[in-house]
Amino acid sequence: MCGIVGYVGPEPALSRLIEGLRRLEYRGYDSAGVALLEGKTVWTRKRVGRVDALDQALGDAPESTTGIAHTRWATHGGITEENAHPHCDGSTGLAVVHNGIIENMNALREQLESEGVVFRSETDTEVLPHLIRKFYTGDPVAAVRSALRLVNGTYGIAVVFADHPDLIVAARLGSPLVVGLGDGETVLASDPQAIVELTRRVVYLDDREIAVISRDGVKVERLDGRKRTADVTVIDDDAYGVADLQGFPHFMLKEIHEQPESIQRCLRGRLQLDEGNAKLGGFQMDPRELVRIERIIALGCGTSYHAGMTGAMAIEALARVPARAEVANEFRYRNPIIPRDALFLAVSQSGETMDTLGAIQEVRIKGGNVAGVVNVVGSTIARTAGKGVYLHSGPEIAVASTKAFTSQVTALMTFTLMLARTRNLSLEAGQRMARELSAVPAKVSEYLHNPGPIEAVADTILDARYVLFLGRGFSFPVALEGALKLKEIAYIPCEAYPAGEMKHGPIAMIEEGTPVIFVAPSDVHRDKAISNMKEVQARGAKLIAIHTAGDHEIAALADVSIPVPEVADFASPLLTVLPLQLLAYHAGVKLGRDIDKPRNLAKSVTVE
Ligand code: M6R
Repeated sequence: MCGIVGYVGPEPALSRLIEGLRRLEYRGYDSAGVALLEGKTVWTRKRVGRVDALDQALGDAPESTTGIAHTRWATHGGITEENAHPHCDGSTGLAVVHNGIIENMNALREQLESEGVVFRSETDTEVLPHLIRKFYTGDPVAAVRSALRLVNGTYGIAVVFADHPDLIVAARLGSPLVVGLGDGETVLASDPQAIVELTRRVVYLDDREIAVISRDGVKVERLDGRKRTADVTVIDDDAYGVADLQGFPHFMLKEIHEQPESIQRCLRGRLQLDEGNAKLGGFQMDPRELVRIERIIALGCGTSYHAGMTGAMAIEALARVPARAEVANEFRYRNPIIPRDALFLAVSQSGETMDTLGAIQEVRIKGGNVAGVVNVVGSTIARTAGKGVYLHSGPEIAVASTKAFTSQVTALMTFTLMLARTRNLSLEAGQRMARELSAVPAKVSEYLHNPGPIEAVADTILDARYVLFLGRGFSFPVALEGALKLKEIAYIPCEAYPAGEMKHGPIAMIEEGTPVIFVAPSDVHRDKAISNMKEVQARGAKLIAIHTAGDHEIAALADVSIPVPEVADFASPLLTVLPLQLLAYHAGVKLGRDIDKPRNLAKSVTVE
């Protein structure tokens, strides 16, 4: 949600800033802007729309070796050039880019206006340059620190000053920032993805820290003035990589097709086929600690919540440990009870989702035990949890999460195996489960080579006024995930229901020709699912069934049959979700949607 890039060094800053913005554009893409230091002034340019629009407006940009840039996802104020970042003080002697929300902006703005300040935008951010200017007497760090003392809310900011041309001041509270150390040059970003091409030696800022960034590196202090050593981390993980389409028309399709490999990477070195067990060292828990866990609560948002639901079902079914999933922001604000014997799992692709981060902070304040199930190495949630499992999916660029979902489910199933073996899962059953998990990548690949009539189904739902997704057991979170994908990418009205609940209301929505997409693998729920299929068909629904290959009864019953390879019940979501991902993709393409950057969305949601 919004992206920040900064550069100080010997080379022209502009090309590096624009390249960094392009790598961050998936985080927010309403508008973009840049500030460059030019002599004793700050030069800015902003444009509504994508980074390309900004790039085309930079013909007269000055040669500069220091600058900051921003790509915006609007919160306060519409999508206009005035509201785009950077924002300057009245004399354009300094410029600020900001991620987060200044919650007391009204009070600060009124105060500043009463002192004669004229605002140019509707944003919360604009109070920052005016406040910093108010406190500025030649010391940039002191001015930023004084201004931030008055601010309530969240921020990751970068500030440049006209009379300090080789300096960027950055500060963080709740919105991530990372400093990259190069050879005689230093870069800043809200996400390592923006800077890994320049350097992999980074310093992560923590909350309430301020960084002074120059060509020589970075000095980090606490906002209260205490010093801290800037520990350098070397990013050597494949979670950041070249964001390259590799011949695919969209990142979403590329990432769907990466799933055999991303699931394999998630399993690699973790399954112990002979012992019928799994080893997830990152949890830092031996069997004696695992056996003391009396319940599991998965926290997440969107797709990650659906993966958490799937994992919780597996944990209950196979490890016989009570487990549930919760929407992170609902959980956070209801003064939740944190049982001492519970393990909380923070499920997140980006590791930066504010709602999930806030939930685990609440758990930790109350003394709870948290582990992360996270893709992005070094992300705030991963560092806050301090233990857990990395997904190793590689970078997920498309806003719609696909390969992260299957990796999250895989990681949670692997954890389930490890937990179950400390309970009542026998050696033989553990060996069977490990073998079944290890077979999944090949089955995913098999399906993706022969996906069935997805494009024909996409044609039939393009004009639908309503699409209903149904599933039972493990297939209910899959139905939810399918509906989320279709909304996000194709903007087609739809919802998902547990199939057994359908007759308690949603069945009223079904009329002649209503598409009903039923996720019905050959598991314990199959026969009841068939009854539900007949119920919707009797009311005129067009039945699209996703079922296990070889289930001729469902294939014959459905108007459209989409078979997936047979796997163990608990692993079925890793197969049945694939046609739903492809369906949303093809419907979106046919409707001319912006597949990788759908309207109103951003890849990681770092505001509340
Ligand atoms: O990075 P996270 O996994 O924490 O993100 C959570 C949700 O914002 C995310 O899954 C969102 O729902 C996706 N756009 C779904 O495709």
